[in-house]
Amino acid sequence: DGKFTVTLIEGDGIGPEISQSVKDIFAAANVPIKWEAVDVTPRLKDGRTVIPEEAIDSVTRNYVALKGPLATPVGKGHVSLNLTLRRTFNLFANVRPCKSIAGYKTPYDNVDTVLIRENTEGEYSGIEHVVVDGVVQSIKLITREASERVLRFAFQHADAVGKRKVRAVHKATIMKMSDGLFLNTARDVAKEFPHIEFDAELLDNTCLKIVTDPIPYNDKVLVMPNLYGDILSDMCAGLIGGLGLTPSGNIGDECSIFEAVHGSAPDIAGKGLANPTALLLSSIMMLQHMGLNEFADRIQNAIFAVLAEGKTITGDLGGKAKTSEYAEAVMKKL
Ligand code: IPM
Ligand code: MN
Repeated sequence: DGKFTVTLIEGDGIGPEISQSVKDIFAAANVPIKWEAVDVTPRLKDGRTVIPEEAIDSVTRNYVALKGPLATPVGKGHVSLNLTLRRTFNLFANVRPCKSIAGYKTPYDNVDTVLIRENTEGEYSGIEHVVVDGVVQSIKLITREASERVLRFAFQHADAVGKRKVRAVHKATIMKMSDGLFLNTARDVAKEFPHIEFDAELLDNTCLKIVTDPIPYNDKVLVMPNLYGDILSDMCAGLIGGLGLTPSGNIGDECSIFEAVHGSAPDIAGKGLANPTALLLSSIMMLQHMGLNEFADRIQNAIFAVLAEGKTITGDLGGKAKTSEYAEAVMKKL
């Protein structure tokens, strides 16, 4: 029928409500996508968290998935499902853009940062152990292979989004070996992209400068190891109004998963109060990734128009609209 099939992981808490907004708006915009909803409730197999086979098959078959927030089950043996998904599909680059939203006032105007986070290793490798009682070791694993892969992606992404500079963010002054390897690899990869300016900056300095004045970061793609990217991407989100407004994409060679970075907000789940903007913007990144740019532009313009008007916005943004009212306002602007 000429439609793309996309895996939908609705997620927990507010996940189903915000997913519904995406489905409604996509249907209203006639986006040629069929959703294949899957359950990713984890199973424990030999003491490890595993994703149900059907969910894995679906993402593998469709190459592309959209994902709502997933709560991690509490209990021994369970590792974050979010991380398990990234690792299962080898989604090595996490793309996190933050762009100021017209009409939503923050202390900063015209922010337009793009952060690429290494997504498979670093402190997130999950290698830790008790040495003796009261002493633990967590391994920060850095490999040239994973570094090279995400760095190359960052340069290619700079080209794709029209940024002229790539900056590696690191702490090689202290983490001499691990960040040193990342930084040296960055310098090597930079030679493959002579038309893109490359430099490096210490993470703490980046934090200081970006909250003082984010504008000098608008012409750069920032690329960094996993944990730094986790932290700095929330900081960037803070510049434009928080995680309710920022999309993200986990990119791999075989498939990609686009997701909202915020949590499942159990306190407001089921009440129709959630803001679906982050998941919607993630679905727009997904459309761009699939080459469906016309649909992406149309939906994005409609969202920005509703936010700029500021009349039909959700409680987190200071409005009174329900999730469905906001989605309907977006559909009217299509
Ligand atoms: C994120 C989240 C995750 C992370 C959590 C939920 C495991 O904070 O996507 O940034 O730390 O990567
Ligand atoms: Mn995070």
